[in-house]
Amino acid sequence: MLRTKIAGMGYYVPEKVVTNFDLMKMMDTSDEWIQERSGIIERRYAKKHEETTSTMGAAAARMAMDSCGVNPEEIDFIIFATLSPDYFFPGCGVLAQRALGISKKEIPALDIRNQCSGFIYGLEVADQFIKTGKYKNILLIASELQSHGLDFTTRGRNVSVLFGDGAGAVLLQPTEDDGKGILTTHLHSDGTEAEVLSLINPGSHSGYHLGKEQFGYPDIEYGGAFITDKMFNEHMLFPQMDGQAVFKKAVTKFPEVIHEALKAAGYSTQDVKLVIPHQANLRISQFVQRLLRLTDDQMYNNIQKYGNTTAASIPIAMCEAKQEGRFAEGDLVCLAAFGSGFTWASALIRF
Ligand code: UT7
Repeated sequence: MLRTKIAGMGYYVPEKVVTNFDLMKMMDTSDEWIQERSGIIERRYAKKHEETTSTMGAAAARMAMDSCGVNPEEIDFIIFATLSPDYFFPGCGVLAQRALGISKKEIPALDIRNQCSGFIYGLEVADQFIKTGKYKNILLIASELQSHGLDFTTRGRNVSVLFGDGAGAVLLQPTEDDGKGILTTHLHSDGTEAEVLSLINPGSHSGYHLGKEQFGYPDIEYGGAFITDKMFNEHMLFPQMDGQAVFKKAVTKFPEVIHEALKAAGYSTQDVKLVIPHQANLRISQFVQRLLRLTDDQMYNNIQKYGNTTAASIPIAMCEAKQEGRFAEGDLVCLAAFGSGFTWASALIRF
């Protein structure tokens, strides 16, 4: 049976380091509050006019291809996961394809909108295409540029201190080695609390879900419902989050979906070399670690350096963990994610 292996990995983070002390100059917050509640010490912000979600994604993709000696011309499918695309449309998949110079081959480029779970959603999609023999070199990219769209006043502090920019990518190929590669993947979603962590404006909802009064739509039959003056004036163009609601759900769903993957593949937590969770919040990861009785060596965290880079956090963390020797050939690694939607997911991989 064909399986999917991770043949190459890459990541890219912008050069600019922004510390908690830098944020304290813009809003009423403190290094102590941020570290205590989230574990974050610093994050990276992209350079305006020079870096975008798709260019950072392309840089991570180049590293992934170089790491396994695959040329851009050999790629037969691109999957791009992000919640912070360069454009509303077209998606970042085609922009990364252009940046990588592989437009001539006219390969498909698919965009994934599953926020923090986007990378694992992409992994399952790629896995299905590889297992059926349809594609042989799939580039899965996850990239986020959040810093351009955050509210850097005290009003937005509960969200803006948490997020950072960066990109990760993997090159996926078939393998005949039965014990190797992606062993199982599990995807979930529940839209009942979709707005709890969301960026709803601009959008085409016209107030349908939450009531039209609060958005200030002009009294005209067509148009005028995408961005309104009221949205600008009343700061409705930023992400919003009920942090405690997200926290509570995350600490339930992370362990649940990790157990689901282990059970499906016939393993227990003791068999896992490393769990790489989506880097949402250090407190969430520590909570999950305690619940699953994992040792410090079995849990990977790098949110301290990068903040929450949403879809990109898992491939960045996986790449760094590999470089640091936290797992090697033959090891069992579990990926898990939870985030906006809500969506959550896991994957068990034998390297
Ligand atoms: O990928 C998924 C992404 N999201 C998450 O993972 C978020 C999950 N949630 C969390 O991590 C936590 O809920 C937060 C870190 C966001 C917030 O921590 P919390 O312990 O739940 O704090 P809180 O929202 O209950 O706020 C406590 C206080 C409030 O002040 P008052 O009302 O007690 O006076 C906030 O206004 O902290 C205040 N606060 C801040 N103070 C300093 C909120 N943000 C900040 C800030 N700096 N940045």
